[in-house]
Amino acid sequence: MRISDPRIVAKLAEMHVDLRPGTALAELTSLGIGGTTDLLRIKKHESLPDLLSLLDANHVPHKFLGAADLGRMITFCAKNDLGGMEGLIGVPGTVGGALRMNAGAYGMQIGSYVREVKLYRAASRKIEVLQGDQISFEYRHTSFAPDDMMLSVILELPSKPFKVILEGIRICNEKRRSSQPLGQKSAGCIFKNPPGASAGRMIDDLGLKGLSVGDARVSDRHANFFVNAGHASAKDMLTLIADVRERIQKTYGVSLENEVVVWNA
Ligand code: EPU
Repeated sequence: MRISDPRIVAKLAEMHVDLRPGTALAELTSLGIGGTTDLLRIKKHESLPDLLSLLDANHVPHKFLGAADLGRMITFCAKNDLGGMEGLIGVPGTVGGALRMNAGAYGMQIGSYVREVKLYRAASRKIEVLQGDQISFEYRHTSFAPDDMMLSVILELPSKPFKVILEGIRICNEKRRSSQPLGQKSAGCIFKNPPGASAGRMIDDLGLKGLSVGDARVSDRHANFFVNAGHASAKDMLTLIADVRERIQKTYGVSLENEVVVWNA
């Protein structure tokens, strides 16, 4: 939906919310996929309750796209001699997204380090602060509501010398480079691993590496990474996901659950 009502446009300006009509989502997603939308850039968290009341009152559908880059946060922590997050280097996404999904790799998960999260709760229409022990973090699942919006997080990280953290980052990067398609447009793993198994191995064992729909392709390097090899559309990617899920279901009787969150218009 497009924001064209001049009364809404004027109110947004009053709230100092930046309206960017017709923004290409493909430029804002690591998969490089998505149509156009009206983007609202919020400068201050405090304007969220009023903004969302305005959107709700005018029946403007909306979703939250994070901004703080996960890789940048890991290097910022490293420069301040704070480690623990090395495993997440190279994971495409935002800090808010990593919190919501409890991102993890190489034996660590972000949830273990969370002490406090400040968030906007659509349900109460308030900015709230949750302590780490009020949030449940499980494998790629948390107790956050789908419309909670992460605003800031306090992590308690182990002190480590910068050089030691850098070495950890180098090792994780090397592991990733050898097993994942880092240089290509992807959203990380598409499916969650079923209990006790690897979705990537199951897809690989069926010989599906390289399977394509348009430019959406099962990576040749890691079969749970689906890459945009050119100009894939969202429809191509969703068709490929459905096709692979169906083949896995038929062969193994296992229904793979998406790890990626799909935004349908
Ligand atoms: N394997 C294959 N073929 C493939 C992919 C994997 O045979 O195409 C085999 C590997 O050789 C290995 C086993 O499957 O023996 C497990 O593979 P890997 O170590 O890559 O782990 P994974 O279970 O596929 C998980 C996370 C990754 C994380 C890695 C490393 C999920 C869905 N994926 O992958 O996280 O980087 O472990 O810790 O939990 C992500 O969630 O987006 C993600 C990339």
